[in-house]
Amino acid sequence: MILLPIILAIESSCDDTAAAVCKGGIMLSNIIASQKVHEKYGGVVPELASRAHMQNIVPVVDTALRQVSVSLSELDAIAFTQAPGLIGSLLVGAQFAKSLALSLNKPLIAVHHMQAHVLANLIDDPKPSFPYLCLTVSGGHTQIVVCKSPYDLQVIGETRDDAAGEAFDKSAKLLGLPYPGGPLIDKHAATGNSKRFSFPEPNIPELDFSFSGLKTSILYFLQNEKNKNSNFIEENLSDICASIQQRIVSILLNKLVKATKQTGITNVCIAGGVSANSGLRTALKEVGEKRNWNTFIPKFEYCTDNAAMIAITAHYKYLKQEFADLNISPSARAEW
Ligand code: KG4
Ligand code: ZN
Repeated sequence: MILLPIILAIESSCDDTAAAVCKGGIMLSNIIASQKVHEKYGGVVPELASRAHMQNIVPVVDTALRQVSVSLSELDAIAFTQAPGLIGSLLVGAQFAKSLALSLNKPLIAVHHMQAHVLANLIDDPKPSFPYLCLTVSGGHTQIVVCKSPYDLQVIGETRDDAAGEAFDKSAKLLGLPYPGGPLIDKHAATGNSKRFSFPEPNIPELDFSFSGLKTSILYFLQNEKNKNSNFIEENLSDICASIQQRIVSILLNKLVKATKQTGITNVCIAGGVSANSGLRTALKEVGEKRNWNTFIPKFEYCTDNAAMIAITAHYKYLKQEFADLNISPSARAEW
């Protein structure tokens, strides 16, 4: 078996077309083409995403290989995101990876997108030691995962309705901010008073999350205030954003604290697009210092959807020779 396998990884589960090349688990290139076409629709349009993937995939893969002067014949395996995601988007990456593997006669590696988010923490130093907890917070998912090894990942908590990123984006929409609103709430929150308005924390059992009640309470709160003052949002935007952000962050952190107590694990990581949120980063650092956790946040390019996380997951699968059959199909939903 090759000890330092060179792997090409492709990610196309949503609206980013990405390719990465890694050698022996060291990331050599990580290329991403984000799709701007969805902005004016206020969310990802699946059909447009598939078409954009078809336009982007060849140049993105080509750039990832050229940038590090790796030729197709030098590849030891081709990896791709098999699930979960938008089926039309997944199909483009899957068909491309399968065709390449077939034509080059190289093994194919199928990767679970959410497991890859968790293993993104193993790309760069300092890496968490096992076992670690990972809070994955993105536009589609909110999960707490115990990672005992790259081959042993267990979901111990997840959202019952909206994801944390959706909570940010839907709140932003209620405030009249464009999609995706998460980064804008973060920006306005920086100058706001987070104690000015109070939103309820849901009472959800165990380590699960819920964000739909928060969205409804924000909706009623804004309707009520706007009835009294039609300029309420404009006049109080930063305080509203800071208060919403504070509540979303406290919901996430409180469950994380509960998870560390329940499992006894104090290596704590975050992943997913929402881990870019400055309120969440600061709170994780503060809570971590107070509770003696070892905290880890991957580089931002490894937090949002990317192919490097697919490549690192594929690297571990390669070491165990966990290859996929060429008749494998992508899947919108997936068991863990
Ligand atoms: O992981 P990601 O790039 O894509 C997937 O959903 O898979 O996450 C995107 C989500 C969006 O909901 C976006 O609003 C949110 O991450 N996000 C943020 C910030 N940056 C991105 N939410 C809050 N604060 C941010 N700074
Ligand atoms: Zn993702």
